[in-house]
Amino acid sequence: MKTTTLSLMLFAGTALAALPAQAAGSLNLICSADVVICEQMTGDFQKETGIKVNMVRLSSGETYAKIRAEARNPKTDIWWAGTGDPHLQAASDGLTLEYKSPMLDQLQDWAKKQAEGSGYRTVGVYAGALGWGYNTEIFQKKGLKEPKCWADLLDASLKGEIQMANPNSSGTAYTALASLVQIMGEDQAFDYLKKLNGNIAQYTKSGSAPVKAAARGEAGLGIVFMHDAVAQTAEGFPIKSIAPCEGTGYEIGSMSIIRGAKNLDNAKAWYDWALKPEVQSRMKDAKSFQLPSNKSAEVPKEAPKFEDIKLIDYDFATFGDAEKRKALLERWDREVGASAN
Ligand code: G6P
Repeated sequence: MKTTTLSLMLFAGTALAALPAQAAGSLNLICSADVVICEQMTGDFQKETGIKVNMVRLSSGETYAKIRAEARNPKTDIWWAGTGDPHLQAASDGLTLEYKSPMLDQLQDWAKKQAEGSGYRTVGVYAGALGWGYNTEIFQKKGLKEPKCWADLLDASLKGEIQMANPNSSGTAYTALASLVQIMGEDQAFDYLKKLNGNIAQYTKSGSAPVKAAARGEAGLGIVFMHDAVAQTAEGFPIKSIAPCEGTGYEIGSMSIIRGAKNLDNAKAWYDWALKPEVQSRMKDAKSFQLPSNKSAEVPKEAPKFEDIKLIDYDFATFGDAEKRKALLERWDREVGASAN
């Protein structure tokens, strides 16, 4: 066969293969979970549907700020994952679209409640409890005691050992702030956070960064969602995860379609797809060990069990309110962030 004929055939083959993708169009997605699961999900969706996904990873608070800023000319079609509070805030600001997925019936009650509470402008995709992970080798070498309670994190021996994220950018850190306010009362929680600030080496942008730093030995302990600590243990790092003795809060990781989405049909296709049991069951392959929202999805054996954790009755309506968030973050900036290292 002549080279020209061969290359023509190859060209025709490529053009044909490209056709369905073109017909299927594209989807602009912000992903607020860990980048590894973001890439797995977008890759799988592209393969299954032919829809090209332009994905950006942004923390939950950053995403909320971005879609607010772009409200008149949205550049995003769908926001998948990240803590539920900013999804609820976006819903109450009217930044996201009402959508009742045919998959709703298959979901856990907590995921359905998230949808009902927002007028169907968001929905739960996973849940995870807040705690911390610490590096057992560092703690042993330095003779530090295992911190089992929030109160233990104030111990002077932990000065410079702790990292957490900044609650302005990170939904994880906002969950920590809101949980402490619910456990202790607002004034006491701020007293606590001011004291804790003395032990904090760094406030990171993204929520899971602190325990990744602890895994690499750059910090002793990271305040994170427990499943993010477990993911580092599963990677082979000497990280032990702890559920705080006084009790702790949790997230309902959520998903919302942006109002004014340019690729609305594709956004709905992602929405329904991401709630499927087989899709959620695959999340563990990316070491994403949250509790899945579809009742038939497989719960990863590594997922921290809610029955073993002292969970508070997290008030999503109050702490998912845009005004409440603004007020708490302003106070955090004034009383804690301003004197951060
Ligand atoms: C990690 C967790 C997710 C969580 C997300 C929030 O990726 O695995 O369960 O929703 O952090 O990220 P953020 O950077 O906003 O704290």
